[in-house]
Amino acid sequence: MKVTKYVLPVAGLGTRFLPATKAIPKEMLPIVDRPLIQYVVEEAVEAGATEIILVTHSSKRALEDHFDKNLELERQLEEKGKDDLLEKVHAILPEGVKVVSVRQPEPLGLGHAVLCAQHLVENEPFGVILPDVLIHHPHTGCMAQMVEQFSRLNHSLIGVESVPLEDVCKYGIVSLYPDEIGEKIQRMAGIVEKPSQQEAPSTLSVVGRYILTPQILRMLEKTQQGAGGEIQLTDAIADLLQHEPIYTYTFEGISYDCGHKEGFLRANLEYGLRDPESGKTLMKLIQEHVGRV
Ligand code: UTP
Repeated sequence: MKVTKYVLPVAGLGTRFLPATKAIPKEMLPIVDRPLIQYVVEEAVEAGATEIILVTHSSKRALEDHFDKNLELERQLEEKGKDDLLEKVHAILPEGVKVVSVRQPEPLGLGHAVLCAQHLVENEPFGVILPDVLIHHPHTGCMAQMVEQFSRLNHSLIGVESVPLEDVCKYGIVSLYPDEIGEKIQRMAGIVEKPSQQEAPSTLSVVGRYILTPQILRMLEKTQQGAGGEIQLTDAIADLLQHEPIYTYTFEGISYDCGHKEGFLRANLEYGLRDPESGKTLMKLIQEHVGRV
């Protein structure tokens, strides 16, 4: 079955990035010259998205505006003959892809945010992408890799990667049945949100890429507050596991957790170095800097 709808939860407060995120949504912070949200929309579009569902908050209008037309800006760029910039503005959202939004009135947790999109998702499998995690792969985005696997499995699929033991307390951590059932695919045995090092069943973490069957929404309807007092998607996935198989996919690529300073800086550095327009200049700056310290 095709996956055409992608839920992008963007209603969180972004407190780890204060004061930058007091008036600007975290998901609008730029990596080189594009806001975070644009990278993940591109990843979803590459995977076959035709509908992007932003789960948003009244304080985050800039996100909706980013995907809306700005006729005045386009007219100005056209008049001044700035075709290259006009092209960049037009490329924000390809033809045939629509962005819709739904409000999460209060940031009650990621699980609650996904449930807010229930009426838009309806009864089909859907993708979920956390916009503060970027995943770089030179050829095939993480979501496109997962969609390919999903078309064979037809069961929920969760993107995972290994993290250092001291970091397990920051993520959802999975346990697996031993047999690898396909390349990089394993059947999930359990999942727990932000465990301590002693409780962690493995060091395989959930990084913010999911393809979920609509049954997850039935689970979310009943999910109570969990870790941090939030309604956790992880808890609903653990419930779903009691009803149907769920698989993990160890994706190919480099992940950047841009929800905190170090991850954001690393992403800007590495995306900047890869950028055809600014890569060489940035490398020169780094070399000059290293020469000075
Ligand atoms: P995070 O926990 O990383 O984001 O959630 P946050 O809550 O905004 O950040 P901190 O912890 O306060 O710094 C991952 C994604 O889920 C969204 C966030 O906007 C972010 O993109 N989210 C989180 C929601 O949409 N609603 C919520 O209730 C919680």
